[in-house]
Amino acid sequence: MKQLQSVKLLLVLWVISLSGMAQTGVPATRKVNISINKPTAAISPDMWGIFFEDINFGADGGLYAELIKNGSFEFPMPMMGWRDPDTEAQGAMLIVNQAAHGVNPRYAQLKLKGTGDFVLLNDGFRGMGIQKDETYLFSIMARQLSGQASLRLEMINAKGTVIGKAEPVTINGDWKKYSLSFTAGDTAQKGKLRVIFNGSGEFHLDRLSLFPQHTWKNRPNGLRNDLVQKLADLKPGFLRFPGGCIVEGRDLTNRYQWKTTVGAPEDRKLIMNRWNVEFAHKNAPDYYQSFGLGFYEYFILAEDLGAAPLPILNCGMACQFNSSEVVSLPELDPYIQDALDLIEFANGDVTTKWGRLRADMGHPAAFNLRLLGVGNEQWDEQYVERYALFEKILQQRHPEVKLVAAAGPYAEGPLFDYAWSAFKKMKPDFIDEHYYKGPDWFLKNAARYDNYDRNGLKIFAGEYAAHGKDNAQAESKNSWMSAMAEAAFMTGLERNADIVKMCSYAPLLAHVDAWQWRPDLIWFDNLRSMATPNYYVQQLYSLNKGTHAVPALLEGKALSGRDSLYASAVIDSVNKELIIKLVNAGNKTEYFEFNLAGIKSVKGAMTVTSMHGAELLAYNTLDKPATVTPVTSTIPVKGKKIMQVLPASTFTVVRLKYVQ
Ligand code: AHR
Repeated sequence: MKQLQSVKLLLVLWVISLSGMAQTGVPATRKVNISINKPTAAISPDMWGIFFEDINFGADGGLYAELIKNGSFEFPMPMMGWRDPDTEAQGAMLIVNQAAHGVNPRYAQLKLKGTGDFVLLNDGFRGMGIQKDETYLFSIMARQLSGQASLRLEMINAKGTVIGKAEPVTINGDWKKYSLSFTAGDTAQKGKLRVIFNGSGEFHLDRLSLFPQHTWKNRPNGLRNDLVQKLADLKPGFLRFPGGCIVEGRDLTNRYQWKTTVGAPEDRKLIMNRWNVEFAHKNAPDYYQSFGLGFYEYFILAEDLGAAPLPILNCGMACQFNSSEVVSLPELDPYIQDALDLIEFANGDVTTKWGRLRADMGHPAAFNLRLLGVGNEQWDEQYVERYALFEKILQQRHPEVKLVAAAGPYAEGPLFDYAWSAFKKMKPDFIDEHYYKGPDWFLKNAARYDNYDRNGLKIFAGEYAAHGKDNAQAESKNSWMSAMAEAAFMTGLERNADIVKMCSYAPLLAHVDAWQWRPDLIWFDNLRSMATPNYYVQQLYSLNKGTHAVPALLEGKALSGRDSLYASAVIDSVNKELIIKLVNAGNKTEYFEFNLAGIKSVKGAMTVTSMHGAELLAYNTLDKPATVTPVTSTIPVKGKKIMQVLPASTFTVVRLKYVQ
């Protein structure tokens, strides 16, 4: 707020000095001409999207609201996540593997001695986040083999105090589902669930599950409200899923296969999450993919967000940073068939096999899939030849679906050049470029696309983030410096909207106690979530997307790095609004005059939204989430000229209405 007041004061003093009332200290004014009537490109409605990957406990333990970890005992260590606190005297537990149980073959066999409570304790994902007054819905599959027993629940906080209880139910007869619930009397950041059995005899247990009643849109098997809300607040143009390297897998058996993630949640086959073992310094031995959040849920999420779904499929190649395993070319057909079947699942009539499944899952209407990625961050000949086989069939059978090819993991260099030269000939609809670089790179490369071939490929900037210098604080990697550098770079994405069609920051989510990769757009713990400065930058672009890019020229040139200044402008041709994005990455205040051509005048007041960090390494935390946030003010305007002061280290969005 202080920052904003001083900007207003500067603006007043400066305008006074310009009008000749003050004799000294007239600052140099940068005169930028904006031609509102000369749009250079239509902005794609998809332009600013989101990239979702199950990394950093983004799905299980994050967006997916299930609170019990390893509820079906299918982790390779079947009791991981579960503890039976010294209850030998009360009974014994054994994990049985019965192939007839299909993809979920294990269950727990419990023999109770009749000597008191037998307790199974689940830790959740680094604890369970429990909210006071929220109701929690528990379910379990169980059968009685002999004897008599009851089952009840207790939710405890970190100190072991009981904060919620469900009354006993009796287990009887063959396999069936038992549902219990409790309302929490208190909040717990790291709750644990006690599942308590009392009685004697033999019982079998499977599929233990606990959800808050209030998930996103109160859906069963649902998503965490606060996290989805943060995604919705971005108003993303597209949702890319399920990644990222997770698509590729460390080897082919570990790849993402969408068909194993649809249908009833209990029939989805769990696999290891590749980030479980990726980084020795960030081992996550309890990181698996239950696929409770699977492809159907991703499509629903995209629909809820008003975002175009953009699935990325495995192209017959495992991660080239890991095993580099590829499927032989004559055996690629099932992978291509997966792509065809996915299109049928998303768009097919309900009379088709996969369209029927979509309808059975609750969504007879098509999901309107029109974008599809083939391969994530693949490179070299083995990728291009596999992509070509996908493309041939997909273009023939589904010309309505636009294809995304990958430019590899680097923003430049031999692999990048090879991909570009190959794909320039093949002409996929989009090429997916990734850049994880230092803030300096982003500042220096803001004009990256100014000189790209206008008749070349359309760009999907599919993964980017400015990676700052090491700092003891995890969140500090999401510093103001990194966000400001991204804002500067994004002026170049916007200015080149004729070729840049989609953009997404990556990764999206990170659990503060369970992350593998940083920086990330949104951080969370079991109860809270926090938007980073980078999030607000993405949001300011997305909410101020406009419909057309227009020229914003200083001395006839785009402003992209001169004296650490960056600018781009768009109009919303429907609502007759001009939106200017401005970054002053330098260390002194700058003064701008914008001359607006092609309009009669501006109208009413302009809104000025500004972001600034008290220092370059300022960052938000869960305890102090508003350290770096946008601040908005309104300033009356008239005529065809507007003045704007840009303090050092700021990102500013100016929005105003005009009459043409
Ligand atoms: O965003 C994290 C990882 O970075 C993605 O999984 C991968 O595509 C890239 O290397």
